[in-house]
Amino acid sequence: MKKIDVHLQDDSYSIFIGRNFLSDIGSLIKNKYSFDKVVIVTDDIVDSLYGEVVENSLLKEYISARRIVIPHGECSKNLDMLRYIYNQLTDFGITRSDLLLTLSGGVIGDLGGFAASTYLRGIPFIQVPTTILAQVDSSVGGKVAIDLDGGKNLAGSFYQPKAVFIDIDVIKTLPVHYFYDGLAEAVKCGCIGELSLFTLFESIKTKEDIEKKLENIIEKSCQYKASIVEKDEKESGLRMFLNFGHTLAHALESFKNYQGISHGEAVSIGMSVITENTERMGLTEKGTEKKIKEILSLLHLPIKTSISIEKLMPYIMHDKKIRGDFITLVILESIGKPKLIRVPLEQISTYLATGSSL
Ligand SMILES: NC(=O)c1ccc[n+]([C@@H]2O[C@H](COP(=O)([O-])OP(=O)(O)OC[C@H]3O[C@@H](n4cnc5c(N)ncnc54)[C@H](O)[C@@H]3O)[C@@H](O)[C@H]2O)c1
Ligand SMILES: [Zn+2]
Repeated sequence: MKKIDVHLQDDSYSIFIGRNFLSDIGSLIKNKYSFDKVVIVTDDIVDSLYGEVVENSLLKEYISARRIVIPHGECSKNLDMLRYIYNQLTDFGITRSDLLLTLSGGVIGDLGGFAASTYLRGIPFIQVPTTILAQVDSSVGGKVAIDLDGGKNLAGSFYQPKAVFIDIDVIKTLPVHYFYDGLAEAVKCGCIGELSLFTLFESIKTKEDIEKKLENIIEKSCQYKASIVEKDEKESGLRMFLNFGHTLAHALESFKNYQGISHGEAVSIGMSVITENTERMGLTEKGTEKKIKEILSLLHLPIKTSISIEKLMPYIMHDKKIRGDFITLVILESIGKPKLIRVPLEQISTYLATGSSL
C-alpha cells in the first residue's frame, strides 16, 4: 500500500492508497490507531455495496461499530441530515475517544466530516472515499461543509481527518458518468502544477488506459493537493490555484440549480473557457487551450456551454473570491504555470466570455 504524508504540525495525517483492502480496514485502523467505537457514515447506494464489509471488518477486530445510512445525493448535504447524524451519535454514546468513518463520495465526506468537526467540539474522523472525485480531491485538504438554503457549502470548517484510506478497486462499481466527472479535478492538478500528471493524461486514449493508470493518477493528484495544502492550509494564497476553472464552474452550477450539470463537468467548461479567453488576450502560451480541450474531450467532459456570460454574471457576483470591486481569477501562463490575477468586476466578461449569446 502506498502512503502519502500530509505535514500539518499537530494535524498531520497519512493518505493510504491500495487495492481491495476494505475487508481488512478494521485491522488497518486497529494497527495504527486506538478507538473504542466506530460509527460509519455512508449513503444507501454505497452501504448496499460495501457497508457490511466495512462493518464486519471492524467487528472482526472487536471494535464495536454502527452504520448511519443517509439517502445518496447532494440534497442530503443539509441541516436535517446533520441533525440526524448528531442524534445517532448521541444514541450510540459516541465520545472523543471514538471514531467517525465516512464511506462514500464527496457528499458523505463533507457532511460526515462537518458532523465530526462540530460534535463534542470535534471527534476524530477517517475518510474512506469511494468516488474518483473524492479520492483525488475532496477527501484531501480538510474542507468539510453542508449546503444552506442560500447556497452550497455555506456552513463548514477546516478539519483534518486522522487518515484517508483509498481503495482503488471500489471504482469498479462507480457509474461511468461519475468516473469521468471526477477526473476533471485530476486534469486540473495537471494544468496547475503536476506536469507529470498532465503528460500522463496526454498519453491516454481509452477508458482501459485510464483504468490501468488510475492508481498513478490518484496518487499524483493526492500528492499534489497535499503539497499545496501543507503550504497554505486555510486558503490564503497558494491554495487558491486549486480554484482554476472554478469561478465559471460555480456560476454554471448555481445557474442550473445544481441539476443537469455535475461539478466535474462545470470545472471542465470553466478551465476551457478561461484558457480560451486568456490565450486570445495573449496572457497564455499559444496551444495551451488546444492541449487542455483535447484531454477533456477524450474524457467525455464538456468544453463549452450554450449559456451566455451575461446570464451567468449575477451568479459570478456571489463568488467568494470577490473583494471590493475586484475578483481574483486563476489563469494559466502555460501548462504547469498558474497565476492569480485581480480583475476589476467590469472586466470579468472579457475573461469568462462563453462565446454564446443565449
Ligand atoms: N471538501 C472538498 O474539498 C470538496 C472538493 C470537491 C467537491 N466537494 C463536494 O463533493 C461533492 C460531490 O462528490 P461526488 O462527486 O463524490 O458525489 P457523491 O458523493 O454524490 O457520489 C456520487 C454518487 O456515487 C455513488 N457512489 C459513491 N461511490 C460509489 C461506488 N464505489 N460505487 C457505486 N456508486 C458509488 C454515491 O452513492 C452517489 O450516488 C459535492 O457536494 C461537492 O461540494 C468537496
Ligand atoms: Zn472542484
